[in-house]
Amino acid sequence: MATLEEKLIAPVADEETVPNNKTTVGVPGWLNQLIDMACAISVLGKSLVDELALVDVLEDKLKGETMHLQHGSLCFQTPNIMADEDYSVISNSKTVVVTAGVLQQEGESRLNLVQRNINVFKCIISQLVKYSPDSTIIEVSSPVDILTYVTRELSGLPKHHVIGSGCNNLNSARFCCHVAEKVGIHPRSCRGWIWGEHGNSSVSGWSGVHAVAVKLGRKVESTYDVIKLKGYTNRATGSSVTDLTESMLKNLSRIHPMSTMVKEMYGTENKVFLSLPCFLNAQGFTSVTNWKLKDDLRGRNLMGHPERPKIHL
Ligand SMILES: *[C@@H]1O[C@H](CO)[C@@H](O)[C@H](O)[C@H]1NC(C)=O
Ligand SMILES: *[C@@H]1O[C@H](CO)[C@@H](O)[C@H](O)[C@H]1NC(C)=O
Ligand SMILES: *[C@@H]1O[C@H](CO)[C@@H](O)[C@H](O)[C@H]1NC(C)=O
Repeated sequence: MATLEEKLIAPVADEETVPNNKTTVGVPGWLNQLIDMACAISVLGKSLVDELALVDVLEDKLKGETMHLQHGSLCFQTPNIMADEDYSVISNSKTVVVTAGVLQQEGESRLNLVQRNINVFKCIISQLVKYSPDSTIIEVSSPVDILTYVTRELSGLPKHHVIGSGCNNLNSARFCCHVAEKVGIHPRSCRGWIWGEHGNSSVSGWSGVHAVAVKLGRKVESTYDVIKLKGYTNRATGSSVTDLTESMLKNLSRIHPMSTMVKEMYGTENKVFLSLPCFLNAQGFTSVTNWKLKDDLRGRNLMGHPERPKIHL
């Protein structure tokens, strides 16, 4: 009996398997589904990948969300949208976005939250590496710098295959938006960077801010406070993750502020993860920019919060 496909379609050549640009978004349980879906939609909207896989332990919710995405696939250029509780669905992904994380409970200390997240990550990361050993992991979960470190340590992946995002890439974009608004230009005509640990202790590099090729220096100090604002939308996080994914899949060698290991850079002796402007291409992140720190960064605490929790892996 001929199958329906055989009745309808006559093959003229053997189909070869071609290398895919598969991106996996999300990951299990505890995940922040708002961020998860924002990342998925944003990646789909840019037609960056030929396969998108979602993983979660919330089976019904996952099925519903995936069906919803599949029903919208007439409008997307991504033929395969898959989801499963089982990690095998992510096999051979080029990029994996990790949004998993437990939520802070009332009265819970940051240290305790981090430690609980580490316990979750112990299960997740080993599964990710098992099924996608050659992928680049983009860590989105909070606190992003610490969890990027944790991901690197648990995964054993090379340093250029584990990056932290969501925050400083996004903060820098927001920083440019504010500067651009003040100057009355489009944000794309402004370049500026936020450095250091994500959160209240992040540092703005004013000496490196350029708008329409004019160096701004400290003329726009009045907007300084704005970049410290907390609370970002899931949409912007999705766009930010998509931006990083695009640089990798299309081998663009663009510079993004990303969380990476800074040992032996900028006078840092410890094995910590912080955001620096990094080159991103098909190999993952390949180099960091070698800036001469000016007054605005020299002497500032690039190491982030002095009470960084001690964690146990
Ligand atoms: C996948 O990546 C290759 C380059 O590695 C590119 O030529 C191709 O267009 C990409 N496919 C999609 C769907 O983006
Ligand atoms: C960040 O700063 C705000 C305002 O100064 C403060 O309310 C908040 O507790 C700080 N958050 C952290 C994690 O230090
Ligand atoms: C990425 O681009 C660089 C040059 O910018 C090139 O050397 C490298 O081979 C490219 N890698 C891939 C996988 O296309």
